[in-house]
This record gives sequence, C-alpha cells and structure tokens, in this order.
Amino acid sequence: MEMTLNQLSDKYLNKEVSITLLLTDVKVKKARNGKEYADLFLQDQTQKSEARLWDYSVYSSILSQMEYPCILDCVIQVGEYKGQTQLTMKSFQSSKDQDITIDQLVQRSKWNAEKMRDWLDDYYEFIQAPHIKELVHKLVFSEQHYEKFCTHSAAKTVHHNYMHGILQHTLEVLKYVKIVAGTKRLTQRQTDRLLAMTFLHDWAKIREYEPVPLNDLTVEGKLLGHIFIGAYETKKAIESIEGFNQDDALIIINGILAHHGSLEWGSPVLPKTVEAQILHQADKLSGDVESILAFVESQGDEDGFTDRLWNMGTDYYKGGME
Ligand SMILES: [Fe+2]
Ligand SMILES: [Fe+2]
Repeated sequence: MEMTLNQLSDKYLNKEVSITLLLTDVKVKKARNGKEYADLFLQDQTQKSEARLWDYSVYSSILSQMEYPCILDCVIQVGEYKGQTQLTMKSFQSSKDQDITIDQLVQRSKWNAEKMRDWLDDYYEFIQAPHIKELVHKLVFSEQHYEKFCTHSAAKTVHHNYMHGILQHTLEVLKYVKIVAGTKRLTQRQTDRLLAMTFLHDWAKIREYEPVPLNDLTVEGKLLGHIFIGAYETKKAIESIEGFNQDDALIIINGILAHHGSLEWGSPVLPKTVEAQILHQADKLSGDVESILAFVESQGDEDGFTDRLWNMGTDYYKGGME
C-alpha cells in the first residue's frame, strides 16, 4: 500500500519511510550556528505537513530550480517533540512515477463534487424574487466565476481548506439557514435575502486565495480581504441590475459585511437584520464544527484529550467515538 502523510505517527517513530508528496513551499531559516536549514511545506490527499531539511546546503540549488507545486519522492524520518509528530526530510528527488498527477495529491472535500453542484442549483431555485436571483446568478453561476466557486478552497488553515471547500461550506451554511428560515417562519422576501447573502458571503475567497494546492493569500486578499471584496463586487453587480430594490441591496450587503459577527473578528459593521444574524450564526456553526472534526482527526487515534485547538480555546475529548 502507498504510504500517506496521515499514517506517519508514533507507529513509525525513528523509522525512515518512503513517500510521494507534493511540495508547495520552502522557507529557509538560519540556525544559531549560522547554518541554513529549511522548512518544507508538503501535502498529499490526506493532510498538510511540514518537514525539516537540515541538509539545506546540499539541496539548495535543486530547490531553487523547482517550480511549486512539484511532486517529490521523499525519504522522511518520523520523530517526536513534546508529544507532537515531527518530520525530517532525509532525502528527496523529483518523482520518477509518471502516473502520479498533482490532482491526486490534493486534499478535497469528502462530499461528491457532482452532487454538490446539483444541490447548489436546488438552493438557487428556492429564491423567488427575480432581481435577487439575477444577483446570485451574476456572481456564482456566470461562466466567469462558476468553476472557481465550485473548486476553490475556503481557507489556508482552520476550516474547509481543501479543494471544493467554498462550495461545501456554502452548501452547509445554505442548509442551516434554510432550516432556521422555515422554523422561524421568515417571509419569502426575508428568505430570498438570507439565501442570497449566504451564497455570496464567502464568494470573494475565490480572489482572496490562490487556487489549491498553493492556496496562499493573494496580494488582493492580503490587502483587502474577502469581506470587503465580496461587499464591493456585490454592490457593483447590484448596480448593473436595473431597478434593484434599495432595501434588499442594503440588507444583503450588510449580511456580507457582518457575517463574521463582530468588529474584532473583522466585520466592519454588526448584523443589523434577523437574516444577517442567522447567516452569522450558521457560518460560525459550519466553521467551528469543521475545524473541531479536522483537528480531532489529525491528532491520532488514541483515546483521551487532543491538544488545545487555538481557534476554539480548548482541547477536545476523543473517547468512545465509534
Ligand atoms: Fe468569511
Ligand atoms: Fe463562511
């Protein structure tokens, strides 16, 4: 069986294993004695990991000629530091296996990609008001954006940081908000606005991040962020639709601007409608649960507590999950 990154746990402690990985970035650092070493950013279809390359000087000229992402046949030593698995790159070369493609070494959503596209259509059909439908169509379903929206990742770390991440996350949030809209008997108009702001709230992540597998923040993403870009592009699209209802416009844009829920989480305004508050809560639910699940999975399969998950401020108990 081919070795994968998620298998490199205590079981292989102090052993050297051969494994094929995607290299996405290299950070060169200096040790106290002045010697250069490097941290290699690696991934396969199971997870992302870093490995330290102590012999950087031996490989520096090879690495400087490589274009990322590239596929490497690696020999990695599994070590441990303060209870965490640590990987050391012992040697590597460009992969000789012609059959392996970059696509095969990219993490992707566990949901079926074709079905997700169908579900996205279903939620679009729930919207009734033609002007709101047109807005969502322009940004999500138009030829210019649709492929990106359906394949991009929603983050570099934390949650939904894999291929089809935006699509899966948007669908999750659409599911949650639709249930709340029905349970609380929102009007059709409120529901239309809620669905539209949900479709569009993280839309701008297609511009905030490079496509997978590199997945770095773009210059535009670093300087402007997805909240501003999303609100700005939504406003532009609204202005191109004749006679768009002004109240609907402001409410949808407030929903996008406010979806992080508070100023300290990067929203410039607070949720000012019930729709915007539902979106914020549903967005948080989707992100938090996903980050806990991914973190617990990455922490090995012994019972007991995980390390502390920084974005949730606590550790999690792994007992009896079967
Ligand atoms: Fe967001
Ligand atoms: Fe989101």
